[in-house]
Formats: sequence, structure tokens, C-alpha cells
Amino acid sequence: MGDQDEVSEKGAGALTIPSLRWEEPPEGPVLVLLDQTRLPAEEVELVCTDVPALVQAIRTLAVRGAPLLGIAGAYGVALAAARGFDVEEAAEALAQARPTAVNLGYGVRRAAAAYRAAFAGGGAPVGAAAALAEARAVHAEDIEASTRMAQHGLALLGELLPGGGHRILTHCNTGALVSGGEGTALAVALAAHRSGELRRLWVDETRPLLQGARLTAYEAARTGMAYTVLSDGAAGSLFAGGEVDAVLIGADRIAADGSVANKVGSYPLAVLARYHHVPFVVVAPTSTVDLETEEGADIEVEQRPGQEVTEFSLPFVQGPGAESGAGIPVAPLGAQAYNPAFDVTPPELVTAIVTEAGVVSPVTRDGLAEVCSTSRWS
Ligand code: MRU
Repeated sequence: MGDQDEVSEKGAGALTIPSLRWEEPPEGPVLVLLDQTRLPAEEVELVCTDVPALVQAIRTLAVRGAPLLGIAGAYGVALAAARGFDVEEAAEALAQARPTAVNLGYGVRRAAAAYRAAFAGGGAPVGAAAALAEARAVHAEDIEASTRMAQHGLALLGELLPGGGHRILTHCNTGALVSGGEGTALAVALAAHRSGELRRLWVDETRPLLQGARLTAYEAARTGMAYTVLSDGAAGSLFAGGEVDAVLIGADRIAADGSVANKVGSYPLAVLARYHHVPFVVVAPTSTVDLETEEGADIEVEQRPGQEVTEFSLPFVQGPGAESGAGIPVAPLGAQAYNPAFDVTPPELVTAIVTEAGVVSPVTRDGLAEVCSTSRWS
């Protein structure tokens, strides 16, 4: 086993640069993003002055992860309004930038609705102020949701794994980089770390865009967690060796029946977890639950370009010149690729869904509807 118990405690804490912030320089309002395609090599900011730039940042995953997409979408509407662009057109473009994470449309709809209501009574400047206030509310609520999910998740881990010393496997990236707060699943792992209960965070590299190896490991190192990165295919032998006590993942959309869409590779982990009698826990705010999507088969799964699989094309891999778009080939020229960004785990494989409003376990349609109805923001 790779062993990194000695992982540095230096720099433990929050990100140096927040994943996203609103600024109002004299030239006009901007949305500043931490460009996640360049991590962990460098912390570079991306300044969006208009919605097309933000849409591009969403599509290229410079800004990503379900809760952060909701926040970015809401600020995007505020940006369009503040800069005098067509707000309806902007809202449409933002909502359609990526199809699976339901939070994106949720954030966009909230800011656009606030804009419309205020515009009707007071005109464009009042509408713009209302859209910004709503974006700030979405942002603040996410911070609070993150804290509550961490509390509920930590308590649940205590019940599921009474012996402590948790060895937790996670997939993709679910920490401060995807949130106004400390995130979803990674916030729970961080709470366990702070309470001395985390023995090891197993970090799936998360092919093809390496959100685990690049981003979760970056966050784990900054917060002093003992972590080990593994290739996605190594998870099976880790379970077989009895090295995983629980799986904690986030979600991009949870259907009304409790089916969970999350980063591709999550479903195989759920199957492994069931076979090996390991709890499989999903941590997501109620804004990720889409009660209008009846079941897993109804969730639209984003299909991404095949080159992400057949080439290494992330800027941090390629270094200077990556902007040219040409990647380093790792498959024969012309190879076809299957590249869904997400997969769907059926509810019967999910031990619990942890939300800010409480824990749903067992995962049932009624249980999910109930927790959403008690959420402050439903
Ligand atoms: O394609 P990405 O990087 O946006 O995918 C993100 C994930 O799948 C996360 O696990 C999910 O959004 C949950 S984040 C709290």
C-alpha cells in the first residue's frame, strides 16, 4: 500500500484563493474564478466579464462541481444584469452549459426569478441588485448547507463505524473547490479528520480529468489529511483487502427515487461496496435533489469529447502552449472513445443520502421527499 501518513500539516486550512468571488472594480463587475484546470500546478484566476466567458469556463471545467455550478450560475445571471446584457438569453445559455448537475439550473432560475420580479417593479438597476442579492443568498446557503452536511455526515459515520479510525474512499472532488463552504463528501471526511476519526482518505484518481488526483489530493494535502491516491481500477483490490470502511461521494443530481448521478466511476464503487458489505454514502445538499426527475433513467448524462480519454490535454499536464488545444495522444490516432462524464447509481445500492436537512436511510422516494420538504430552501 502507498503510505502517506506523514502528509504535510503545513498550509492546513482553507484554499489560498476562494473557488469563486464577485468583484466590482471601476471597469464594471466581474466574476473571478480559480481556474481548476490548472491545479495543482498553479493557482491562476480567470476573470469573467461576460456570460459567454463564464459558459466557456463551465464547459471546460475551470469552474465545476454541482454546488459551485449553482453559485456560478446565479452570479452569471447577476453579471449579465449588472452589465446590461440580455438576462433571459444569459440565463438560458448558463442553464444549458452542462446538462447533469441540477444545481446549475437551480442557481440560474433563482437569480433570474429575483431579477424578473424586481425588474417589473423598479427597472433594470433594481433587477440587477436583486439578482446579485439572490446570488449572494445561494452562495451563503451553500456555506451553511456544507457545515450542516458535515455535522450530519460525521454523526452518521459514528453510527455506521462505531470503532472509529475510518478509512474512507472518495471519488472525484467534493471539497472547498466545489462549494462556498467546505463542500459535501469531503467536508464530512474533513470533519472526521478534525475529530481524530480519519485514519486514511483513499482518493480515486478519477479518470479522465483527474479531479481526484489533482483536486481532492490538493485539498487533502492542504488540510493535513492522511491520503493516498489510487488509480480508479485499483479500488477493487483495496476493497478485497479489507482496506475500505466506507465510501463517501457527492452527487450531481439525485432523482426522486433516490438514484444518484455522480462522476463516472461512482456506480462501480457502489457495486464493490455492496459486494464487500461496506457502507456507500452520498453527501449532497437538497438543491441537488430533483424531485421532477422521476428515476435514474430520466437523468441526462453529459457525454464529453472523446479526446479527454484518448489524449492528455489538461493545461497542467501540457504546460505552456496548452491553449492550442492539442493534447498528447495516449491511444492510436482515430481511436473511438466512450466518455460519459457521470454514471447513475440505483437507490438500492446507496446506504444513505446525507443532506443539510438530515439523513435519508434507507433511501426511499418518500424519505427523500420528506427531507426535501423540511429543507429551509425547498
Ligand atoms: O465533472 P465535474 O468535475 O463537475 O463533476 C463533479 C462531480 O461529479 C462531483 O462529485 C459532484 O459534483 C459532487 S460535488 C459536491
